[in-house]
Amino acid sequence: SGTPLDHVLLQHPGDVPVAVIGAGAMGSGIAQVAAQAGHPVVLVDAQPDAADRAVERLGATLDRLVAKGRLEAAQARDVLGRVRPHTASDMSTVPAVALVVEAVVEHLDVKRAIFRQLESAQPATTVLATNTSSLSIDAMVQEAHTGHDAASYGGTSPALARPGQVLGLHFFNPPPLMRLVEVISGSATDGQVLDAAGELMRRWGKTPVRCTSTPGFIVNRVARPFYGEAQRMVEEGIADPATLDLALRRAGFRMGPFELTDLIGQDVNLAVGESVWRQTGEDPRYAPTDWQRALVREGRLGRKTGRGVFTYAEDGSATDA
Ligand code: NAI
Repeated sequence: SGTPLDHVLLQHPGDVPVAVIGAGAMGSGIAQVAAQAGHPVVLVDAQPDAADRAVERLGATLDRLVAKGRLEAAQARDVLGRVRPHTASDMSTVPAVALVVEAVVEHLDVKRAIFRQLESAQPATTVLATNTSSLSIDAMVQEAHTGHDAASYGGTSPALARPGQVLGLHFFNPPPLMRLVEVISGSATDGQVLDAAGELMRRWGKTPVRCTSTPGFIVNRVARPFYGEAQRMVEEGIADPATLDLALRRAGFRMGPFELTDLIGQDVNLAVGESVWRQTGEDPRYAPTDWQRALVREGRLGRKTGRGVFTYAEDGSATDA
């Protein structure tokens, strides 16, 4: 029984090239994880210099790990030496690899176009994974008649020829630190590809958890009512955010809902929430709140803007906003 990744599991990681498409927050982190696991990695971005800058940042990150004594200098050099930046919007220029992890913007049409270009240019055995937070794996592989990538396909974007080799590998931010990877199956994904991908994630030091392609997958769906109910309770005057966070923390949660959404970014969290809500036919359990929309409108995005639900000092300490 030889599915593509089974074969990969028998080889030394140094002989198994990986491509990561998108050198943003997630793509750079995923590239680091793959390189630390021993794979040669090509890190691709359409934006001029984005991939080069990401590799520079990786160098700085690895230097910090060496300074802290968490990594040998020689290891850091090896890891950095495995990651090659590549600037391209045309995916046919990406060298042949065993596994692609796509981590570009969260737009279905953009991801669809990338998958189509990759499938026609890559070897028949290449496995295509997406790091999407909210989009359907089936929508990514099926034929579509609309969207702004349609022009290049004469009005339609065809179904992928090998949907069995397409799956979701949903990493969490930041990928080098977060252990969880949701391994997401589309309705056509080959079971052996899923098994092998899970085993590969284990070898990358991750904890793979299998789920189907449903809105929000596991974590982002369970988290919706957690955030939403907390906001409704504040609106109802039952508790203020700091008290509610403290209660949840002392009850054993790592973080309360408000400090957590300030860390994720209120804008990012609202976008994921709206996506889950819309895909469930606007199920009120997942409805974004007016309060959340107001935070985003006012630019109170959380830690990254110095102010969200709470206000953050230079040293990272929080006070009530
Ligand atoms: P980002 O905005 O930091 O990075 C996206 C990168 O993709 C940018 O460098 C951009 O230049 C590049 N890009 C855009 N279109 C491209 C194209 N056609 N070809 C090549 N490169 C292209 O975004 P981020 O936060 O890294 O997210 C990437 C993906 O990961 C999204 O699907 C997102 O939903 C998902 N995700 C994000 C998480 C987060 O906490 N930020 C967590 C888990 C998944």
